[in-house]
Amino acid sequence: MSKPQLILLGAPGSGKGTQAKRLVSEFGFGHISTGDLLRAEIAKASELGKKVKSIMDAGELVNDQVVLELLNANCDLTNNVYIFDGFPRNGEQAALLEDFVLKGTPAKAIYFKVDFEQIIERITNRRLAPKSGEIYNLLTRKPKVDGKCDVSGEDLIHRDDDKEEVVRNRLEVFKKTIEPVLEYYKSKTQLVELDASRPADVVFEDLKKLID
Ligand code: AP5
Repeated sequence: MSKPQLILLGAPGSGKGTQAKRLVSEFGFGHISTGDLLRAEIAKASELGKKVKSIMDAGELVNDQVVLELLNANCDLTNNVYIFDGFPRNGEQAALLEDFVLKGTPAKAIYFKVDFEQIIERITNRRLAPKSGEIYNLLTRKPKVDGKCDVSGEDLIHRDDDKEEVVRNRLEVFKKTIEPVLEYYKSKTQLVELDASRPADVVFEDLKKLID
């Protein structure tokens, strides 16, 4: 695949995971979500998982180096084109991604813009299937059977950090940290902004045009 590496930027709940899943199934990208990698560590109760759980439950950011190491251990750019979802989240991580992972590989950063009140409605109604990775929404993408995944039949969960007060803190953290990231990619002329407040199908059509 001769596509650039994709870096999805955007507030919690702006739809990065939803669109990443669709891009993976249509184009065969690899998908690296640092949030998913960290949640997998928590699920297996590793030392790292135990360390990061309370930080994530509070909606704060995990240490940059810790996340970089996890990311690096899970991607290999030799034969793959990835979607980076949830990394970088601050200016330091943007530089780390370039210096230690991408190392000059062509990349495009796409910024998902959505109004914060819409985000709170989206996240508080989000339900997830941890095994299949399917993402549902009680308003816009309901499962066929209440509380069950359409694909795997497993029980759907509500993430611990999806409670409204934690979501509000995650949005505050995002507001404080995203500007240097946007500036970083603007200065490299790699940044594209996307109106992600529209229905998921419409956003996906725009994304397809952007990556072609
Ligand atoms: P992470 O897992 O990365 O969460 P996030 O960035 O907060 O993003 P979300 O997964 O909440 O949202 P999304 O944009 O993927 O939205 P989704 O598609 O699900 O991070 C969690 C935590 O891990 C962090 O707080 C931090 O502690 C830690 N962490 C992770 N990476 C880190 C890093 N690099 N450094 C330090 N710490 C790190 O959509 C949301 C909902 O909306 C769904 O219900 C969906 O169905 C619905 N929806 C999606 N699109 C639309 C649409 N267009 N219209 C209507 N509804 C839609």
